[in-house]
Parts: sequence; structure tokens; C-alpha cells
Amino acid sequence: MIKFDFQTFTKSFINIDEYNDILNKKNDYIKKLKECSMTGWLEAPDKDVITDIKITSKYIKDNFNCLIVVGIGGSYLGSYAFDSIFKSYFNNNNFEVIYAGTTLSSKYLHELSKYIQNKNVCLYVISKSGSTLETSITYKFLKDELKRKYKEEELKNRIILCTNDSNGKLFDESIKYKYKTFTFPKNIGGRYSFMTPAHLLPLSLNYNLDEIIEGYLEGQKLYDVAFEYATTRFMLFKQKKYIENFCVYEENLGPFTEWLKQLFAETEGKNGKGVFPVSTINTRDLHSLGQFIQEGNKIIFETFIKVANSDDFVEYQKKELQTINNIVLESVINAHYKGGVPILQIELTDLDYETISTLMFFFMLSAAFSALLFEVDPFNQPGVEVYKSEVKKKFNN
Ligand code: PA5
Repeated sequence: MIKFDFQTFTKSFINIDEYNDILNKKNDYIKKLKECSMTGWLEAPDKDVITDIKITSKYIKDNFNCLIVVGIGGSYLGSYAFDSIFKSYFNNNNFEVIYAGTTLSSKYLHELSKYIQNKNVCLYVISKSGSTLETSITYKFLKDELKRKYKEEELKNRIILCTNDSNGKLFDESIKYKYKTFTFPKNIGGRYSFMTPAHLLPLSLNYNLDEIIEGYLEGQKLYDVAFEYATTRFMLFKQKKYIENFCVYEENLGPFTEWLKQLFAETEGKNGKGVFPVSTINTRDLHSLGQFIQEGNKIIFETFIKVANSDDFVEYQKKELQTINNIVLESVINAHYKGGVPILQIELTDLDYETISTLMFFFMLSAAFSALLFEVDPFNQPGVEVYKSEVKKKFNN
């Protein structure tokens, strides 16, 4: 279950009449959202696609011992975030999934190529456009590695693609070599693609897809609360609270905050508008960023994501460690609030697949509402294209 409290530690910062005026327009915003063209993610995923993912997942598990996911931004962050929450810190018995394609570091690729020398590897290359620089370079590099070991016929067994169904370099590749290819749906953008093969195939190797999908669909009940969250953020922005700090108290939720940052930054950071998302992984960052949040420039509000229970019991002085962690969390809320920082709270009573999937739908919905409140298009990212075209002037991949 997920509990939300957007009132207790924000109401003294917010103009309540203006807030209620916006809340009363909720149905207009839901209508506006549903009229947008890139909203395939609001629906349940296609059953045939899920069956295909499950069959491919079995094929990968039966034939390989490592999947390398090549993708960047919305093409990998969802599954990476989810996987990071549930895999063990140390004894990882999961099927090995490596996320590559997010860096042009030569050291990284060099070490990756050495690391996979004795592995039985399958590549999963994800790019909706099919032309993203980092993905293309990493794919070419890893394909060359495979070519050194295997004949072209064998590459066909080892390369799986996920791209749009009409154009781009990856699409051409899928036609030319007849690689197994999943379609990246036209009406879903990268950062909203959690329920597509881009994320569900890597996750299917280690987690129960049906529970993930069920949790996602549970999120359909959260339109009201997502609009409330978006409205509260919008009101805080009007009070010059320009930065949202996502706070988590579990190390393994760190990548989840990376997913959140991309989701909100690319969705609403346009036309000189939007809240700038940052994150702190506590208690670690209380000893670094905490000072600024407590006493620095008051342009920050915070969204705490609290995990109520832990299945893994550790005791310190007769108190469960999770309880101590949450005592710190509550104390930080009080301290920061007293320091003039508004705080929104989300509490997960359990950390399981369904809950995280529901939470992801909730945040996607909230981000989209938020962009509509800022009167920007939630589903484009023209700013990202600017750097891409600058690169193209100097280097055509
Ligand atoms: O959310 C988005 O749309 C972006 O972050 C993209 O996912 C990212 O730029 C990668 O694009 P592509 O999938 O076309 O390689």
C-alpha cells in the first residue's frame, strides 16, 4: 500500500484558495491529458506482446548467462531502477543483466569487453529513434566484439532489438539481418515506456511480470492523488520553491531517484519553466547536502519516499534498524520544515514489485499533469535534440 501526505508540511506555504481553484479543474486536466497523442502508457500493455516477452525471456535464460542492455535515458532507466531495488547488494543470484550504453567512457567499454570474454552473452539494444549516439556506439562496439567470436548466423541468435517500426538505423538493421525485434510503441515516449518491451524484457529475467503489470494497473486508481501532488508542486513553485529534492533512505532506491529526475526534468523543463529535480540518498547525504537544505537558499522543497517495513531484520540496542532509519527520517522532516523547507510525503508500507510498479505509474501521471499545469508539452524533449545536433555537426555516427 502507498500512503500520501501532501498537506501536513506544505500548507503553511501555499495559497489555499488558489490551490483549491486548480484542484477543482482536475477533470479538465484529465481530459487534456487523455487528448494528448503520446499516452499509450495510460493503457494496459498488449497481451500478445507480453506473451512474446515471456517466450523470449525463456529463450534468453535457456541459452545465455548474461544480458547486456544497451540504451540510454528512458530506454533503460525504468528497468534499471526497478532491478536495483530488488537485487541483492552482495550475493546476487539473479540472471546477470548489465546496463551499458549510458557512457562514452573508453575505460568502461574496454573493461566491459574484458569482463564478458568468458560469458555467454545476449545483446538487447533499445532505441526508439534508432539513432542515439551513445546507444549506436556501444552497440557497434559490442557487435564487433561478438563478430570476433561468432559467425553472422550466430549473431542472429544473440542480438535482440527494440525500436520503432518504420525508420532509423536500428530499424534498418532489424530488416537487413532479421534480428528478433520488439516494437517500441509509437504512442509512448522513452521516459513513459516502463510497460513496454524496452523494460519488461530485462525485468522478466528475474521478476514476476504479472505482478509488475498488476501493480501498474493499480496505479489507475491514483489519478486524483497524482493531480493533488502535481498541484502542490506547482503551488510551491509559485512560492519560488524551484527545486524538488527526492529523499530516500534506502541505498537501493538511489537509481529510482535517477529515473524520477529524468521523468520530471524532461517532462516539464521547457520554455523557461519547471521544477528542477535533485535527489539525496540518506542518511549519507545528510552529511553533505543536508547543510544547504537546512540553512541555505530557500528554493528547495522535498519529497520523502519512506519505506515502512523491512523483511531483513537487523537489531541495534533492542531496536530494529529500519525503525531507527525512520526515526532519523521523521527527525529530518521536522528539522527541515522548521528550517523553512516544505515537505511532501509518500510512504510505502511494503517494498514489493506491485507497489513499486504502482508508484511508477503514479509518478508518470503526476509528471504529465505537472507539465500541463506549466502549459508545456509533457511528451517532447526539444532541448535534448539541441545537443544532439551540435554533436552531429562535428561527428556523424
Ligand atoms: O525519455 C525520452 O524520450 C528520452 O530520454 C529517450 O529515452 C532517450 O533520449 C533515448 O532515446 P532513444 O530511445 O531514441 O535512443
